[in-house]
Amino acid sequence: MMEGKDRQVPDFSIAKDLRHDGSIKWMQPEGREDVLGMGTADLDFDCPGCIRDVFRPITESNIYNYRYKPDEYYDAIISFFRRRYGFEIGRDWISNIPGTIAAVCIAIRKFSSEGDYVLMHAPYFTPLKNTIEGSGRRFLVNPLVLRGDRYEIDFEDFERKIKEYHPAIFLLINPQNPTGRVFTQEELERIVDICAENGVRIISDEVHSLIVYGGHRHIPILSVSEEARRISIQIFSFSKGFNTMSLPHGLILIADKVMQREWHDYLMPYNFHYASNSFAIASVTAVAGGAGDRWLEALTGYLEGNRDHFISEVRRIGLPIVPLAPEAGYIMWIDCRNAGIPYDTLGERFLDDAGISLNNGLEHGEEGRGFIRLNFAVTRQCLDEALQRMSRMFGKA
Ligand SMILES: Cc1ncc(COP(=O)(O)O)c(C=O)c1O
Repeated sequence: MMEGKDRQVPDFSIAKDLRHDGSIKWMQPEGREDVLGMGTADLDFDCPGCIRDVFRPITESNIYNYRYKPDEYYDAIISFFRRRYGFEIGRDWISNIPGTIAAVCIAIRKFSSEGDYVLMHAPYFTPLKNTIEGSGRRFLVNPLVLRGDRYEIDFEDFERKIKEYHPAIFLLINPQNPTGRVFTQEELERIVDICAENGVRIISDEVHSLIVYGGHRHIPILSVSEEARRISIQIFSFSKGFNTMSLPHGLILIADKVMQREWHDYLMPYNFHYASNSFAIASVTAVAGGAGDRWLEALTGYLEGNRDHFISEVRRIGLPIVPLAPEAGYIMWIDCRNAGIPYDTLGERFLDDAGISLNNGLEHGEEGRGFIRLNFAVTRQCLDEALQRMSRMFGKA
């Protein structure tokens, strides 16, 4: 990874108390003050210093007029894909929308018609299901299959669903939320081949791709093949890696010239090109340009440590739950089918008995029955507190 400008060694063992600062993740239920926020997918850590540095001149100038995106913004994004993936993208591929879900929503509306099916893996990230159905499209799932401790694509079912239902779009989430799978070149090629043969476009949501653990490699959909570039729309944001969720800035990359033109025409009435947020543009320019690379590398190391620590502690203590190691991101998908808790009450039980706010797997579809989703982007101290509370909950302490 390129040398970043953030010279300070970040200390991820420190986090502010976020219980009363407007954080959704740490929002306390009525009458409680002790709940650990381990649901919503954001980080408990401060942003890298490079972000504060680029914000200072903006607040000092106190000018928030309509602004164009400078060349440095585009150059930084192009350099990011070159640096991280050795992949050359064009400036005309890039557009942005405030928010990646909004980007998926608009792309679905543009590249499919009312009543069309949109196919997705399951378990899934529910706001995207809501986006599909809220746009008058029909939601169709290709369940991932748990083999051992890893989810795999059931290609037979994938192809059968495509041939039977003729979805207009396959909405790929890569890395996948909530299973943490990072799809391989071979898997992506197979997806692209099946979609291309059957006239299905791919929208690839890659917001979890900044944090990828040892032994795995994220592959942007547009870098898979010429065929992939012909049929795919790639959606990405820097927010999951750099904790800039409240500065929503979804990036949409389209390589195919015809699709590019159609997309830009479709976006025109929204007037987004007049709605550039100075802070989002500045932070994207800084981190895409490499100023946060060292910070991100350190964060990834810390989170990988959290992931491994949690899994080995659960085993050592003998908790009746089975965490599955994510290949990317900071969401742990945990099998609780042998925990002796009714599946529909898993969320409440962890909240009431352990004071941990997390997500019931059922929030991610039927395929999440018996699972929970835990965000481990917290300090090691907080993670240990969660483990202690779970030990007490299961009578192991
Ligand atoms: C798969 C997926 N897509 C999109 C989003 C929204 O990301 P952003 O806040 O960067 O727009 C999330 C957030 O958790 C997500 O998990």
